[in-house]
Amino acid sequence: VSPDVDLYRASVHVIRRGQHDSGAYVASPTFPTYRYSWIQDGSFIAAAMDEVGEHDSAAAFHRWVAGVVVRRRPTIERLEQGPPAQLTDADVLHTRYTLEGEEGSERWANFQMHGYGLWLSALAGHLERTRGTAGELLPAMDLAARYLSVLWDRPCFDCWEEFPDRRHPATLAMVTGGLRRTAVLLDDAGPDDLAQRIVERMLARGTTRGSMAKFEDADVVDGSALLALGPLAAFPPGHPLVAATVDRVEAELVAEGGGVYRYLEDEYYGGGLWLPLSGSLAWIHAAFGRTDRARAIVRWMEDTADADGNLPEQVSRELLKPDRFQPWVERWGPVATPLLWSHAMYLLARAAAAA
Ligand code: BGC
Repeated sequence: VSPDVDLYRASVHVIRRGQHDSGAYVASPTFPTYRYSWIQDGSFIAAAMDEVGEHDSAAAFHRWVAGVVVRRRPTIERLEQGPPAQLTDADVLHTRYTLEGEEGSERWANFQMHGYGLWLSALAGHLERTRGTAGELLPAMDLAARYLSVLWDRPCFDCWEEFPDRRHPATLAMVTGGLRRTAVLLDDAGPDDLAQRIVERMLARGTTRGSMAKFEDADVVDGSALLALGPLAAFPPGHPLVAATVDRVEAELVAEGGGVYRYLEDEYYGGGLWLPLSGSLAWIHAAFGRTDRARAIVRWMEDTADADGNLPEQVSRELLKPDRFQPWVERWGPVATPLLWSHAMYLLARAAAAA
């Protein structure tokens, strides 16, 4: 980043400009495929806006998601009558919506549950920080928690919108995080009891040598574990899973001292180093009190910004599959830059490392 650019201000600016009047955050204003608002990305972005004191921005996003969820009450109530064995896109809440809150028209990896877990956690965090009460958002929280309670044990797309036939421990962890925090706000033990059962399942089948696995019953790690253990944490840093997962990610998925791969077989844009994961890793190190390590990662992130202070989704160096880079550029254009989620994770990491 050029010395004249203050990346903190640039990040807040990129996020503000990327927020539609509806409250939705666009994933990236310049990358056509990402002209939608992702529940996952937006939940972290709202948390970052709360972190920097932009509570109105976070509140507008939460109201937007609440509207999306409440308008799909009939879908959720139909599922509660007994979900079909084969779910179609019309049966579920989606991964992303247009900025107006409508379903997208292209084929997409629409059935992804962890975003709603993250949203519930981000909303709970927002209400704590602003000393707000859930008030008008209560029905949406209740519906989202009920939705997750019906479908949590179905296989679904993971954080990277892949492997829809597998169960993903990171997804389960993020779902439990959201349910737990909702139980407190709704003053209802039900979601908490379910969360406890899901955690037991996750720990029994979703760990490998003490760390969170990419799939149930597999010995591979995935950077998405950092999303489950990061700023919208499903587990407190003291949980043994967190230390073991971070050690294994550091050993297997980190390059250049701060960049993090999604997983070793990643071929999307050749499999580069993902800024949102670096931010989460730095945040977790900071939570452990390892501020030097956290700051080193934050500096690595800063060095990836362009001259105008835009952060990319991923840095295309040390690619895992270099021959898979160009085909993606031809298909969708250059790597998404700026990515609002990268800026959000930078803000969250920077605040944690400075504390
Ligand atoms: C990633 C998702 C992300 C989306 C928008 C996709 O390429 O796999 O995790 O939510 O981009 O940023």
